[in-house]
Amino acid sequence: MKGSQFYLLVLAVIVSMVLTACGGSETSSDESGTADSAGEEEVYVLQAGHSLPDDHPYELAFLQMAENVEERTDGRVIIETFPNSQIGAERELTEGLTFGTVDLVVSSTAPVTNFVPELGVLDLPFLFNDRDSAVAVLEGEIGDRLFSSLEAEGIVPLSWAENGFRHITNSLHPIEEPADLDGLSIRTQENDIHLAAFEELGARPSPMAWTEALTALQQGVVDGQENPAIVADQFNLYDSNQEYMTLTNHVYSVAIYMMSQETYDQLPEDLRDIVVEEGQNIGAYQRDLIIEMEQESLDTLREQGMQILEDVDVEPFREGISSVYDSFEYQELLNEILEAQ
Ligand code: PAF
Repeated sequence: MKGSQFYLLVLAVIVSMVLTACGGSETSSDESGTADSAGEEEVYVLQAGHSLPDDHPYELAFLQMAENVEERTDGRVIIETFPNSQIGAERELTEGLTFGTVDLVVSSTAPVTNFVPELGVLDLPFLFNDRDSAVAVLEGEIGDRLFSSLEAEGIVPLSWAENGFRHITNSLHPIEEPADLDGLSIRTQENDIHLAAFEELGARPSPMAWTEALTALQQGVVDGQENPAIVADQFNLYDSNQEYMTLTNHVYSVAIYMMSQETYDQLPEDLRDIVVEEGQNIGAYQRDLIIEMEQESLDTLREQGMQILEDVDVEPFREGISSVYDSFEYQELLNEILEAQ
């Protein structure tokens, strides 16, 4: 062997040794719930997905959970977060949980009702008197029962969180009464109750995933949308033709931190208990973050020139959607929630 060939051979052996060592200490994240057994103990890498940016409370609470889980499991469970619908929009993510292709998700409940119809009760406009009543119902016996209905679909519910109170924005004119919605095309979530409610109010709802909504607003395919102030702020909706916002508070948009049953089954019991416990803790923390950030977002929207109508009379809106209450399938559940407040 010539001298140069010998040096090349030595170099190749060294490079291959270094690569092998790196591969062994890395935790793989290309598959959901991957366990890497190169060390003495297996390391589990969990993928956590959602649709909002990395400074939204959905993400901040996931990061908190990831930190706590990593510390308590001595690095044996790593949670990698994927904000901004990187691994799917809310409906796809929920479906991923049922198939076991994604490990952890936080989603508003609206798309989850496509898998668990009872949850639709939470999407009835003006259901809750206020945030405290909502939290009391969700954290109580009714919330526990709703959580059980998720379990039947292969989803392990971790904690109740929130997206915030939904308000209407649009590019055309201020919405002061239901008549102002007449003929207005509005993007809604993929949820039959939202669709029916906006139809009853005279609007032309277009259900679509949030990933499509921004383009639809920018291109004028729809005139408006409805979402909490933090979402409108973090997605700069004032740059997507949204000039007017009416604080209708029409839906307290509940969110849920969830885990795939498949992931749950794959984790050894000691690690699984820690993940579940930390997942159960973050809901309340996330809700507090929303409350802290909400006013700041409203201020930003105003500073950016959005016209915000605050004191709108919601009674005519409530009356306008009463038939949606009448035709709701789970009347007993609905009455229980109304009576509990
Ligand atoms: O409008 C939606 O789809 C949801 O409110 C969003 C923005 C994805 C947050 O859960």
